[in-house]
Amino acid sequence: MSTTTPFIGSRGGSPGVTARSCANIALVKYWGKRDAARNLPAAGSLSLTLDALVTETWVEFDPGLVRDELTLDGAAVSEEVRVKTSRWMELVRARAGLAQFARIASVNHFPTASGLASSASGFAALAVAATRAAGLSLSARELSILARQGSGSAARSLFGGFVRMHAGTAADGSDCFAEPLAGSQLPDLRMLIAVVGAGAVKEHSSRDAMDHTAETSPFYPAWLALVPRDLEAAERAIRGGDLRALGEVAEGNALAMHASAIAARPAIMYWQPATLALLARVRELRRAGAAAWATTDAGPHVKVLTDAGSAATLAAELAQVPGCSRVLVSGVGQGATVTATTPQGEAKATP
Ligand code: DP6
Repeated sequence: MSTTTPFIGSRGGSPGVTARSCANIALVKYWGKRDAARNLPAAGSLSLTLDALVTETWVEFDPGLVRDELTLDGAAVSEEVRVKTSRWMELVRARAGLAQFARIASVNHFPTASGLASSASGFAALAVAATRAAGLSLSARELSILARQGSGSAARSLFGGFVRMHAGTAADGSDCFAEPLAGSQLPDLRMLIAVVGAGAVKEHSSRDAMDHTAETSPFYPAWLALVPRDLEAAERAIRGGDLRALGEVAEGNALAMHASAIAARPAIMYWQPATLALLARVRELRRAGAAAWATTDAGPHVKVLTDAGSAATLAAELAQVPGCSRVLVSGVGQGATVTATTPQGEAKATP
């Protein structure tokens, strides 16, 4: 866990707003865009929000700033990340009719050095905090569209539980948003996160890797054709309370996504030997009767969908796989919310 608390007192301009958001793991993946400039996904996706991985972000607009300032876990971010975030902040400023730059401080309450992705929870928390600090009052859908322009998976982190992202068809992306999936009959789920290695920085960003897959993989068309079928099957399983059916779709969908990436030229390969060992162990445990289905993303870690009753035993089993440095057990997370507002010019206690 990060212990850094870079939140500071408001110095005028706008209220300081803190928002928190949970990460999410896709059970039917987003991998490929129909419009890179607008960050529109080529297909829908479906995710589960996780309560073990939380980002808190504080935003304050300040007339004294000459550019946006951003820290992550107490340290200034790279110029690339600052510029990317600042470009996204322009969308908020344009919408609010605001000219001021902002001071942004983000903290990931993730296990240290786990190498777990945080762009989803990061942009979701930023979207909630920045729009509130700018005086905007957006609907959930508008917020989701805005977060999506920062990172596609962030649109899903605004909501709790199972979340469905719609690819939409409109050229301007106005129908490309996420919303909670209604009617789930699957309570008491858990997601295990088997961390591989010491959290080395991932080799390819998901953004570059999905573009490269779309451009060069002979399997990309087959991947895109599969997604709508998997979405339908996953939704049916969730509404029918069928964890096994959902698990089978999720594991198959993740493997298909990686198959399309592995077939790109040159290949995008996120798996390490311990990833494969964990995937094999999950299959073995399942053959022995366990409720366990694996999924992996743009990194070597293995996430395992299971139920509350099986989580502890499974976590202990997976922790013994060579190369697995730890196993986190996560429950289902809630949607992003504002957690604190500091009146303009008033010092605020650090959370
Ligand atoms: C493998 O949301 O990080 O995690 O929209 O380019 O920022 P951008 O991509 P991002 O991609 C997530 C890819 C994934 C699958 C998923 O979360 O659906």
